[in-house]
Amino acid sequence: MCGIIGYVGPGKASQILTDGLKMLEYRGYDSVGIAVLKDGKLEVRKDKGMVEEVSSALAFTTMGGNVGVGHSRWATHGVVCKENAHPHTDCTKNIALVHNGVVENFSKLKSELSAAGHKFSSDTDSEVVVHLVEEYSKTQPPLKAFMRAIGRLEGSYAIALMSAADSEERLFLARRNSPLVIGVGKGEMLCASDIPAMLKYTKTFVALEEGDMAILSRHGYKVYSSDGSEVSRKQITVDWGVEMAQKGGYPHFMLKEINDQKHFISESLASDVTGARKLMDKYDRIDIIAAGTSYHAGLMLACLLQQQGRNAQAFIASDYPFITSPKEKTLVIGISQSGETADVLQALRHAPKSPKLAITNTVGSSITRLVDHTVFLNSGPEVGVAATKTFTSQLAIVYKLIYGKEKLGGLPALIEKMLASENHVKAIAQKLASKENVFFIARGRNVPIAYEASLKFKEITYIHSEAYPGGELKHGTLSLITEGVPVIALAPKDDTLQKLFGNIREAKARGGLIVSVTDDDEVRKESAMSIPIPSGLDPILYPFALIVPLQLLAYHVSVLKGINPDRPRNLAKSVTVE
Ligand code: AGP
Repeated sequence: MCGIIGYVGPGKASQILTDGLKMLEYRGYDSVGIAVLKDGKLEVRKDKGMVEEVSSALAFTTMGGNVGVGHSRWATHGVVCKENAHPHTDCTKNIALVHNGVVENFSKLKSELSAAGHKFSSDTDSEVVVHLVEEYSKTQPPLKAFMRAIGRLEGSYAIALMSAADSEERLFLARRNSPLVIGVGKGEMLCASDIPAMLKYTKTFVALEEGDMAILSRHGYKVYSSDGSEVSRKQITVDWGVEMAQKGGYPHFMLKEINDQKHFISESLASDVTGARKLMDKYDRIDIIAAGTSYHAGLMLACLLQQQGRNAQAFIASDYPFITSPKEKTLVIGISQSGETADVLQALRHAPKSPKLAITNTVGSSITRLVDHTVFLNSGPEVGVAATKTFTSQLAIVYKLIYGKEKLGGLPALIEKMLASENHVKAIAQKLASKENVFFIARGRNVPIAYEASLKFKEITYIHSEAYPGGELKHGTLSLITEGVPVIALAPKDDTLQKLFGNIREAKARGGLIVSVTDDDEVRKESAMSIPIPSGLDPILYPFALIVPLQLLAYHVSVLKGINPDRPRNLAKSVTVE
């Protein structure tokens, strides 16, 4: 969940690391730091806080040197404070390390190292690694010492390390269950947790595989497998432009990404799903695993497959290993925009014998290496912590898998029309920003959209929010609907409307403040506020019409409350711990 960046080359390392950390901040943003090597001396600056404030307060970019590592933290071990921020150094202050992941055997290693005289300055699990390298460096050359230290680690890690004692300017890398990608430049090399941080310098990348270690120098790179032997790893090129990972004039990435949906939906619809469809036709049972927003896309896929009479079910990835034992005849589909969500990767590993399919946005991500076939979203990088454009892209892929592309031609225009409701949505946001609870209701295939709208709402507004199939209200939740409590009804004119209308009336009779997204005049009349859906829409497209204004609603309530929707508290974009 933390963000790592490293650089070696002719450029000014501190500037490149600081710029990169700004791009990586969505991975974690409670503390930040960089270390650079200049004239054989190591300098570290770090503190708690966001990249912008810490880097300017500590004048990161005044640091000289052409090799360095940087880190933005999402705390797992130890409170948020300067000491626990990365980079961490050894006792001699000659070696600096940044780490993403969790070293599960850190207390055993820490006791061993303490007994050998090492002094620790933080409460983190990460610091043990740099002391371990220091210990082994006493008797072995740098690469051997690094490999030996890595061999002792249990758990997950993406690591970048450098040493002032090394005769060359080099970075040492290792990864297991945490992403780390090498950026191959001309006369310079980079590494980072995610591709967008390196786009300014290169479009050529090498995604390290599980257990890989690597050395970077300005002349090139070498990759080693966990047994220490040199291996070759495929280079990938991406056609993402730097501007795709920038705000492009919008106040927040989230708003840009919501608006981007009108373009990227076509890119997603162009994605090749023939291999995936063949796989899906071959198996009787389909298990779909995912987390958060991607789980809601998974629910939609399961729902549409079930409507076709197929045996399909969506599972929360982190629970999948506890409730299933998939057989060879089960196709397991993992959906993950990042392709790095630890819960999803773990769930896929839980089905060793099953054929597997991934739906992801990230070329070279870990999920692609765990499956037999991958469908890419083609949504471009998504930077806002709240998933928006990747959700509609996931829906587009799901729809293409089920209905084929022919029926979906009108999607870009529909999304554009729904985006045009922004000012109206903003006015509704003003009425909701002071509320403490919000409920979303829907029925049938609109229920996954209600779940997603509710997740988006709570994630960035900090207002308690829940979503239900409308029929469930009377089985308990109705006790919470009192005067003025918002009930947001996803009420398109499809086969679910009649029953949902009954639920809307039940809520209204208890004082509920009805906000509808609808193309039905009667529902509109019953509502205190309403967001219109264009009339005459093919009913299968309603989910797309529903989610876009509800993303905008969450965004505007968040902004009205003075929250940064791109960086909601306690969350991170890519959740690489279980
Ligand atoms: C969505 O807004 C969230 N930030 C979160 O639920 C996210 O969808 C989840 O962590 C799964 O991520 P993935 O798609 O990268 O696997």
